[in-house]
Amino acid sequence: MKISTIILAAGKGTRMRSEKPKVMHEIAHKPLLKHVYDMSQQLEHNSITIVYGHGGELLKNHFADLPVNWTEQAQQLGTGHAVQQALPFIQDDDQVLILYADVPLLKLATVQRLLSLSDSNTLALLTVNLSSPKGYGRIVRCAQNNVQKIVEEKDATEAEKLIQEVNTGIMAVPGKRLKNWLQSLTNHNAQGEYYLTDIIAMAVADKVTIMTTQPEDEDEVLGVNDRNQLYHLERVYQLEQAGYLMEQGVTLIDAKRFDLRGRVEQLGRDVEIDVNVILEGQIRLGNNVKIGANCVLKNAFIGDDVEILANSIIEDAVIGEGCRIGPFARIRPGSEIADHVHIGNFVEIKKSTIATGSKVNHLSYIGDTTMGSKVNIGAGTITCNYDGVNKFRTVIEDGVFVGSNTQLVAPVKVGKNATIGAGSTITKDAPDNQLTLARAKQVTISSWQKPVKKEQ
Ligand code: UD1
Ligand code: CA
Repeated sequence: MKISTIILAAGKGTRMRSEKPKVMHEIAHKPLLKHVYDMSQQLEHNSITIVYGHGGELLKNHFADLPVNWTEQAQQLGTGHAVQQALPFIQDDDQVLILYADVPLLKLATVQRLLSLSDSNTLALLTVNLSSPKGYGRIVRCAQNNVQKIVEEKDATEAEKLIQEVNTGIMAVPGKRLKNWLQSLTNHNAQGEYYLTDIIAMAVADKVTIMTTQPEDEDEVLGVNDRNQLYHLERVYQLEQAGYLMEQGVTLIDAKRFDLRGRVEQLGRDVEIDVNVILEGQIRLGNNVKIGANCVLKNAFIGDDVEILANSIIEDAVIGEGCRIGPFARIRPGSEIADHVHIGNFVEIKKSTIATGSKVNHLSYIGDTTMGSKVNIGAGTITCNYDGVNKFRTVIEDGVFVGSNTQLVAPVKVGKNATIGAGSTITKDAPDNQLTLARAKQVTISSWQKPVKKEQ
């Protein structure tokens, strides 16, 4: 059967107290809606329809590239009414999967189990048993334990309120039946809403079988209505990521102080990550990579045997094998660091390539630079790459030694095996193999006398 997924995303999210639509709030730097989309797009033969309301233009623009149908629910008249807005995109013989954009951690396996239970004459409901079911729709069963109906909290009798099995809202429904039932919905209930949940009793009346299944974990079906819940699910998600990485052989010094906001797409053996590390975007980590405390890596490819010491930041960069980076290093976008390079403390590298075995160990800025191999850059070296309008490149060839506190004013080239004397401001190319320096000669004034304090 073809699947047609409806993602309800029309909620206003008043309790978020936010200017942006609720489903644009993020877990692990990804909007809630995108979590649900990414999960559901893994289903085969699936077409996805998003029901939007509040902030719809923003949503549509932000997700313009997604291959989905968009449909508006201008007024929030209830979950049944929301699903009705998606009907033009539903075929009679579709298996309709209803998801919620504010329930971000639902697992693919759970959805697949739900779908496997439903067919053209069976409706499948995802339910969960809660010790405090307050606020949820209750699953009412008969003596034979078959589901009879769902009753909303506000419409429930005292006896029904004791039921602990609740509706998650997530269900799989045969398309043709769904269309029929939705036509007969009324809003004659405590909230004056068109309840999607009313289709359960209709299904029972039509002798359609109701099957139920439950998620492995309650957190899978929790929704986000306020920022406390958002925080809770962020932590749940992060612990799960951490657990997954540990299963794959990563040592995390503290799984509770680790955040992954993206994906580790390649992972070597015996990676060690200290506390408060954030990995963002696409990350590759080679064998024996060690990441010190408080490091942030974003879209970074790190080779084997690299040690990144505490408080370093690496973004859109490639680091070769056996490098040592930090502490307090900043490798900015467009940097390619080859093997066995040392980048030390308070060093900033931007849009530069550094070849094998070079060292920039202290207090330096290397920007728009092509650096050869076995170069040694002294403390306090600055590439002056910007004249206030344009940027220029610096070329430092193999084997160069740059003395401390040197400025290399680009465009400039330092030739192979050249040495630059400390304290130089280099504005012209320096030739291969020679010592170049550009600084005032040291003088000693022999006639000079120390000032003496005047008598008052
Ligand atoms: C709904 C269910 C309840 C279930 C609970 C699980 C109904 C009538 N009740 O209750 O049985 O236990 O979810 O959380 O379905 N939405 C729209 N348009 C609307 C109304 C809602 O898009 O007109 C969306 C909301 O944005 C939200 C979802 O549907 O994502 C659920 O709406 P909400 O009002 O939170 O449902 P509940 O009343 O909590
Ligand atoms: Ca409601």
